[in-house]
Amino acid sequence: MRTQVVIVGGGPAGLLLSQLLYTAGIDSVVLERRTREYVEARIRAGVLEQVAVDLLEQAGAGARMRREGLSHGGVKLASDGEWFRVDFEALVGKSVMVYGQTELTKDLNDLLAQRDQPIFEAENVDLHDIDGSAPYVTYLKDGRPQRIDCDFIAGCDGYHGVSRKSIPAKTSQVFERVYPFGWLGILADVPPCDQELIYSNHERGFALASMRSMTRSRYYVQVPLGEDLEDWPDERIWDELALRLGPNAAANMTRGPSIEKSIAPLRSFVFEPMRHGRLFLAGDAAHIVPPTGAKGLNLAASDVHYLFEAITDFYRTGAQGGLDAYSHNALARVWKAERFSWWFTNLMHRFPETDAFARKMQLAELDYLRRSKVGAAAMAENYVGLPF
Ligand code: APR
Ligand code: PHB
Repeated sequence: MRTQVVIVGGGPAGLLLSQLLYTAGIDSVVLERRTREYVEARIRAGVLEQVAVDLLEQAGAGARMRREGLSHGGVKLASDGEWFRVDFEALVGKSVMVYGQTELTKDLNDLLAQRDQPIFEAENVDLHDIDGSAPYVTYLKDGRPQRIDCDFIAGCDGYHGVSRKSIPAKTSQVFERVYPFGWLGILADVPPCDQELIYSNHERGFALASMRSMTRSRYYVQVPLGEDLEDWPDERIWDELALRLGPNAAANMTRGPSIEKSIAPLRSFVFEPMRHGRLFLAGDAAHIVPPTGAKGLNLAASDVHYLFEAITDFYRTGAQGGLDAYSHNALARVWKAERFSWWFTNLMHRFPETDAFARKMQLAELDYLRRSKVGAAAMAENYVGLPF
């Protein structure tokens, strides 16, 4: 079998790239290790920058997002239960879209299914001749070996995928920061405690009030690493949220049974370069951000933007420039989002070593954001998404 681009991984990065290439008349095959049900059952975040919304529209995958997504013109920051609002629209003239990653994955899968893509349950995916001029990918489907020849391979298989591991260590570099705490998240079919997201820095630790719709809420509390979910029955989580989000949120909070509950570690990770020969990494395959800045999905879309432009240009004009500049262009935006996510994580969480002085620094910075239009505008500009 032969195609133009083999895409390894059917998460948001792989699906969006395949659909954009399709709109440009470029063939691709998406190989996904899991079943469709498994991929769509994963609970992930859901705050989209305008540039990601525009890409989904360009791919023809925006209809349900437009109908069901929530446009947010600001966000609330709280310190020890006292809120202030960062008004994105007034400060930088932009907003964000609250629409679950699970939902946009379903929308993209619906579109790709019309052309029998992705190939689900593709096992033992292996990449060959990525340094050469005739790359190909092998995998097992229903136990039978398969081979696809192609011009390019897009590694969109996430942090645990095979693509990044196919790149020799001596030609690459890794940058990493692991944070000494996790996020315990719950999903519940209750109305959110506020129209907008609330990020709270509290002496008991960080908390976040978010949502999937006006009837389904998503909350997070900072917990020590290695915490046992058993020790966090729903009531304890609601009590902790009420304390950390402050009296206003507590007064508006509707409690209910969790329909999903999990703990996720926090990490900043970047792999350079994002290209090796005919292999191009995109999304979590190349970088991870702590969820504080809601940048994971948006960075996957950002990489796809640059890769789509480069591949389309190559097939239209034969130009190699975009392909050669891909890693540089994508990483320039990746590092700014890494910086913002690292900065926001440091500002809003309690670190084991946060002594009295460090705490005063956090409170002073929050007070600066509360009172300074310039400071708040910088936060807003990064949160809504920097231009490509
Ligand atoms: N072969 C085929 N598919 C694979 C392999 C493999 N060896 N390894 C992983 N995959 C698949 C996974 O099953 C998953 O569906 O690749 C997909 C990668 O998807 P994501 O992990 O969602 O990564 P990405 O598409 O880059 O999206 C990034 O996801 O994790 C969130 O916060 C992150 O929002 C960000 C977004
Ligand atoms: C979420 O809704 O899951 C969410 C929102 C904002 C974040 C992280 C997660 O920063």
